[in-house]
Amino acid sequence: MNKSKRVIILLVLLVVAAILMPASNLVIKPRNAGMITGPMPIDVEWSNIAGILEDKCVVCHVPGADLPFYASFPIAKGMMQADIEEGLDFFDMADAIRHSGEEPISEVALAKMEFVVDQANMPPARYLVMHWDGKLTESEQADLKAWIRKYRIQLYQTEGVAEEFAAEVVQPLPKALELDEAMVALGNKLFHDPRLSGDDTISCASCHDLAKGGTDQARFSTGIDGQMGDINAPTVFNAGYAFSQFWDGRAADLKEQADGPVNNPIEMGTTWDEVMPKLEADAELVETFKALFPEDGLTSDNVMEAIAVFESSLITPNSRFDRYLYGEKDAITAEELAGYERFKEIGCAGCHCGIILGGASYEQIGRKRDYFVDRGDDFATPDQGRFNFSKDERDMSKFKVPTLRNLVVTHPYLHDGTTSDLREAVRIMAHYQFTTPYTDADLDQIVAFLKTLTGEYNGQLLQ
Ligand code: HEC
Ligand code: HEC
Ligand code: HEC
Repeated sequence: MNKSKRVIILLVLLVVAAILMPASNLVIKPRNAGMITGPMPIDVEWSNIAGILEDKCVVCHVPGADLPFYASFPIAKGMMQADIEEGLDFFDMADAIRHSGEEPISEVALAKMEFVVDQANMPPARYLVMHWDGKLTESEQADLKAWIRKYRIQLYQTEGVAEEFAAEVVQPLPKALELDEAMVALGNKLFHDPRLSGDDTISCASCHDLAKGGTDQARFSTGIDGQMGDINAPTVFNAGYAFSQFWDGRAADLKEQADGPVNNPIEMGTTWDEVMPKLEADAELVETFKALFPEDGLTSDNVMEAIAVFESSLITPNSRFDRYLYGEKDAITAEELAGYERFKEIGCAGCHCGIILGGASYEQIGRKRDYFVDRGDDFATPDQGRFNFSKDERDMSKFKVPTLRNLVVTHPYLHDGTTSDLREAVRIMAHYQFTTPYTDADLDQIVAFLKTLTGEYNGQLLQ
């Protein structure tokens, strides 16, 4: 039996069932009452929004939500089960919209919901065949869109952004930060100090060279004794804006991160117990620490603190795209703007959103097609992504979404450093993350847009 015949038979069955059902069973609203209870730090009609989501979305996007009554029909159940599994895999709404009332809804959740509202592609068409009142009405679409925009304006806009871009899914970097200059200078010194390694040859900057986009521009890094790593070194520029550190998010912040490389046997290959006596022998350094940390002076904890403050200063403002978002209309070309529009239409901004176009969620590489099978090399431990840290099967091959700023200088790309060609990296994304068709012109335009995201460090354009 082909698919359309099945659907027709199913529809007939459903109509018969609907006629036979007692009326009360047809009016089971709100079906999943109470499954979406969100924080509402702002004056937006949350109860209205929660009602829409509960009614039209949670059945496939919240674990354990009630199925509609007709799901007990065998065919409907099979089809729904597949949708529920994939829907949850793509977007766990309960997880995205946290219930504590304290944590705000993430920019990523807002971006993903805005994407599906703009594309009018949720709920999926095949589901609407069976669930004739499942479609978002025009007024519901408008309400959701308005709510997302309002939420962003109140929580996520960068100060000074042009009014028309206050609710934009990508926000500009601030033009400058206020940080303690003496602390930044100290952290800068330590970041470049090879005494943090076992044989005094490797500093943080060996692998995060600020003249090379905050990376080593190598597929894998070379650490102490010429040892090779097995995962690409991400940039330290703008890293302070990410919600966690490392590809698998195993460090909560920059300070915690700084502990990692020192103790890593193939990076700096030492321990703080070995490093500290070397630093303590440096009278000038001891004095600087005394001045900046009056309580306890030079300690390993304070070394990490100073490095973290320095890294927070590594922002790259003033990219052409940021100037555009601040209101400078002609800072980007029509072609580049078209690339940005395609970037949003295809769905890239659902993961690459916010100030650094990334760094706010863990996502699977190859969610629509198997990236690793096509890559050819053996699937290695680093390819397991966040699973290595969380041991949760659902995190298999999920990575912290990298920033898309300064890509011109942060090659090679992806956790496996598989290519240094930006267009190829964009093709990989378009091919493995979506089934939406794309053209060569789309790739070119998106690359043109991404190149407008190169910013300045200390007033110098990165190149
Ligand atoms: C019948 C099940 C079902 C319903 C109902 C449903 N979805 Fe989905 N959703 C899916 C599936 C399946 C996917 C995987 C994407 C695809 O189909 O390619 C998905 C994907 C998504 C994504 C991720 C899109 C991306 O590209 O990252 C979002 C966001 C989303 N849905 C939001 C919603 C919202 C909002 C509603 C309610 C208006 C909704 N969904 C209703 C099944 C459903
Ligand atoms: C031998 C090369 C090497 C050295 C030395 C090194 N790093 Fe890294 N760094 C890496 C690699 C590789 C990663 C990615 C590792 C991972 O995610 O598992 C990384 C990740 C990071 C990240 C996380 C960025 C992100 O987007 O998640 C930061 C921040 C960082 N390093 C800062 C430092 C600091 C500070 C030092 C000095 C204390 C340092 N690194 C020394 C290679 C190095
Ligand atoms: C489902 C979330 C998701 C979507 C949608 C998505 N990406 Fe990505 N992107 C990622 C993840 C995760 C990585 C890192 C994957 C890895 O390293 O294996 C990544 C990596 C990249 C990189 C490489 C960056 C670097 O420094 O290594 C580029 C460029 C990129 N994405 C562009 C895009 C473009 C353009 C689109 C739309 C066509 C897109 N992405 C859509 C999640 C996503």
